[in-house]
Amino acid sequence: MKRLLRIDTSTRKDDSHSKDLANRYEAHYKNIHSDTKVCYRDLSQSDIPHISQNFIEAMFTPTADRNQTMQNTLQLSEILIGEIKDAEIILLSVPMYNFSIPSSLKAYIDHISRVGETFTMDENGFTGLLTGKKLVICAAYGAVFDEMKQMDFVEPYLKSLFGFLGFTDIEYYTIEGTSMLGPEELDRNKNLLSSNF
Ligand SMILES: Cc1cc2nc3c(=O)[nH]c(=O)nc-3n(C[C@H](O)[C@H](O)[C@H](O)COP(=O)(O)O)c2cc1C
Repeated sequence: MKRLLRIDTSTRKDDSHSKDLANRYEAHYKNIHSDTKVCYRDLSQSDIPHISQNFIEAMFTPTADRNQTMQNTLQLSEILIGEIKDAEIILLSVPMYNFSIPSSLKAYIDHISRVGETFTMDENGFTGLLTGKKLVICAAYGAVFDEMKQMDFVEPYLKSLFGFLGFTDIEYYTIEGTSMLGPEELDRNKNLLSSNF
């Protein structure tokens, strides 16, 4: 059995291009691995809070020394880390908002990036602990980025962050021009992208 963690981050309930692309990837993956078990996490519905002073204090207190309040503060973080550790493949759909990622995804990343849990650090530097997994990112951008690629902070950030956490197998698919192109052209481009899955 394959365990796939699907993380959606678009605020759009319907007509989300990033979710459409991820739906196509999920269908493709299930076609190959019919025994796939999917865990869904929709960040637009999850209400993941910004991290707080209490969160940081709890996170940096050794596990054995955490009191009940600290354990409660870290509860959601532990659940999210458990989900990603448990998966063999993570399918992340992400819209570009203001040239970067949605703030809900940043809050998620702040909850899963924890020393001792998803990375370690010592005198030799940092080591990611989320190893042996595949990450597939399906992104949607409103503009076409040919000549303004330096404004794309989604792809370099997500590849760097998840690389830091241990991922070496990362596939990145982008449907561009969702605010500019017509539905037929977008569908054609999605079909082209899907043929490379
Ligand atoms: C709040 C907001 C900010 C956006 N900022 C950008 C942007 O900086 N650059 C861009 O190319 N498109 C931007 N867009 C357009 C989205 O990237 C585009 O609509 C994309 O399809 C969103 O993904 P979705 O269809 O999965 O919701 C923005 C859209 C919204 C709602």
